[in-house]
Amino acid sequence: MTVRAKIALTIFLTGLLTAIGVVATVLMAFQRFDHESTYYRADAFLKRVVMQHPDLMTMQQRFPEEFVNFLGGLVLYEPGTQLYLLDTEGKVLATTTAQALPANYRVALGPVREAASDQPMPYVMGDDPEQAGSRTVVAAKPLQRAVILPGQPVAGYLYLVCRPRTLDENRLAALRSSLDRPGMLLILGVVLLTTCFSVWMTATVTRPLARLTAAVSAVTRDGLEANSSGATAPSQATTALPDAHTRDEFGLLARGIGTMLTTLRTQWATLRRLDHFRREGVSNLSHDLRSPLTATTACLETLDMRWANQPERAPDRELLAVALRNTRNAARLVQSLGDLAQLDEPEFKLRSGVLDLTELMDDVAMRFAERAQRQGVSVVSANPDNCAVLAPVDIELLERAVANLVDNALKFCAPGGTITLSVACEGSMAALCVRDTGAGIAAADIPHLFDRFYQSRQSVAPATGEGGKGLGLAIVKRIVELHGGSIHVESVLGQGTDVTLMLPASG
Ligand SMILES: Nc1ncnc2c1ncn2[C@@H]1O[C@H](COP(=O)(O)OP(=O)(O)OP(=O)(O)O)[C@@H](O)[C@H]1O
Ligand SMILES: [Mg+2]
Repeated sequence: MTVRAKIALTIFLTGLLTAIGVVATVLMAFQRFDHESTYYRADAFLKRVVMQHPDLMTMQQRFPEEFVNFLGGLVLYEPGTQLYLLDTEGKVLATTTAQALPANYRVALGPVREAASDQPMPYVMGDDPEQAGSRTVVAAKPLQRAVILPGQPVAGYLYLVCRPRTLDENRLAALRSSLDRPGMLLILGVVLLTTCFSVWMTATVTRPLARLTAAVSAVTRDGLEANSSGATAPSQATTALPDAHTRDEFGLLARGIGTMLTTLRTQWATLRRLDHFRREGVSNLSHDLRSPLTATTACLETLDMRWANQPERAPDRELLAVALRNTRNAARLVQSLGDLAQLDEPEFKLRSGVLDLTELMDDVAMRFAERAQRQGVSVVSANPDNCAVLAPVDIELLERAVANLVDNALKFCAPGGTITLSVACEGSMAALCVRDTGAGIAAADIPHLFDRFYQSRQSVAPATGEGGKGLGLAIVKRIVELHGGSIHVESVLGQGTDVTLMLPASG
């Protein structure tokens, strides 16, 4: 959920809760007002009755049956109210209710005394004898035996129960009437209006954040080299961010991100420059070293040929062999480093031409035939589909890649082993596979094979006893990437290795 949606939802919920709170408060206030006005009326009514009939206790004692009718007459025009004459213990002596009360029923005296006291009360809730256990608004007045005089003992109470229809009904009616009222509609309208206004405000306030997010996403997508206007100058990065000129927090944030991007771009440019110098240096060094190393190798080979028929030179030839091997290794390393430096250049361009890949595989197989024969390994070029597989490739580079793979396979194949070079069409891709029956690669090494200078734990080739420099597969991967393809290795220790290059084929 976006920040905008979260804020809008929060405001809406706040509005809703406020509306519910207002309705609940109105209901409670209404109920309290209802209780207070009922109590006020009941108290005034009892006061009038006691003033007009101060001898109620005596009347009840003398004429109990007529007294009940008399009480009924008093509440004739007060529906929902019942009058009770109580003794000082709360026992009902006479009542207007037709309902039979439980034997020995006594009204709780606490609320009766509270209501009968002279203290001003908002309202009193007491027992309703008709509904045992429920409480309702009650009023009470003390009665004496004879004339009410100060100091006379209380002989009983006149107790009035004002029972509402039902509490729930009451609330529902109050709610309905409240909602009907224009006041409540006005409250709801205000809440709705406030919510709409708040949503609009949120959208306005968070708009710069959305713009900033879009700008940062653009930098993430396009990289540090290009800013939103497409220019590459690092100094323009700050102005490219929206709302960077405002004085609020968004402006601060935009300026902070802008400064950070400027720093990153400057550092990135420095890094690129240094990387370029490094690559150029390695490339030049490789170029400069290649000729002397080739010349040294040639001299050493000539010397070796000269001493071939001189048995007394045997110890010298052994030294010569060591020197020759090291010179060749150094030449190979220099060549690999130079190639990688060249391939890593961002400006490097392939010299592509459409080629039948089966021919390329045949050529590489032929190139390695003599070495393979010396090692007792057979190199076979197989084309399962028996048809031309055309692809736009840089012939020289791709040959180099396949040669690296065959070189590896030869290094790790024991005499009697087989290396199979095959090409197949897989949809729009051409699959070049170099399969060997050599030593295989441990599963833990496979993910790291393409790291520069990485050599698996079996880096010393069992077939030739030679170790490499761990650059061959890195070069292959770079060449394949430049062609827009991918490289996959499958291997089983002790059984062999399959390396497959997937390249886009010609449509
Ligand atoms: N066909 C294979 N069979 C067994 N192991 C292999 C095979 N191909 C590659 N490897 C392992 O992968 C490692 C990396 O290979 P890579 O070609 O990158 O380097 P290298 O052959 O050691 O050196 P370089 O190619 O630079 O002379 C090798 O050291 C080897 O252990
Ligand atoms: Mg290699």
